[in-house]
Amino acid sequence: MTAHAITVRLAGQRDAQAIALMSRDLVESGLGWKYDAARVLKAIRDPDTLTPVACDGGRIAGFGIMEFGDERAHLVLLAVRPTHRRMGIGRRLVDWLVESSRTAGIASLHLELRAANEAARGFYRAMAFDETIVVPGYYRGREAALRMIRVLRAAGPVPYTWRPSTT
Ligand SMILES: CC(C)(COP(=O)(O)OP(=O)(O)OC[C@H]1O[C@@H](n2cnc3c(N)ncnc32)[C@H](O)[C@@H]1OP(=O)(O)O)[C@@H](O)C(=O)NCCC(=O)NCCS
Repeated sequence: MTAHAITVRLAGQRDAQAIALMSRDLVESGLGWKYDAARVLKAIRDPDTLTPVACDGGRIAGFGIMEFGDERAHLVLLAVRPTHRRMGIGRRLVDWLVESSRTAGIASLHLELRAANEAARGFYRAMAFDETIVVPGYYRGREAALRMIRVLRAAGPVPYTWRPSTT
């Protein structure tokens, strides 16, 4: 298969429906559909949330949604279309979010995934996330979640300062 050129950019309002359908089919399948277009649009418009999309031509091949607090960021959703898996797109999206988190002074990244999702588990381990706890019944009281964390720096105030130029 020929390698395609993939571009990563921030999602715009026009991307909400495509992202929502990917969430329904690739992430939330069997759990109900929480991230419909209205909710995704809210995330895209939220200044404390980043929603990068990886595009193959005009089509979204993968996306992530990450919410930022002062020191913690939460990776809410991440998915790559089955046709585009194992090409490094998930890694590029996570790298993009990690770079943004470092710039924002975030100390740690957090996420939950379905405990039975071995593929995602292997992926996040490869992305340097560590498993913390299993939360029984996290998804609709039916399915357990596995929590994972990636520490970027020691918690506490951002440990660097500089003197702005006075000239
Ligand atoms: C998890 C997911 C995002 C990975 O995306 P991807 O673009 O295929 O991942 P990459 O190609 O960047 O993989 C990077 C590395 O992660 C690991 N990895 C990826 N998929 C894996 C799998 N199925 N099993 C084990 N390890 C895996 C590998 O180390 C891989 O490197 P390699 O291909 O050189 O061996 C994708 O499988 C997906 O969308 N799954 C369905 C949605 C989902 O489960 N999202 C996570 C919960 S919200």
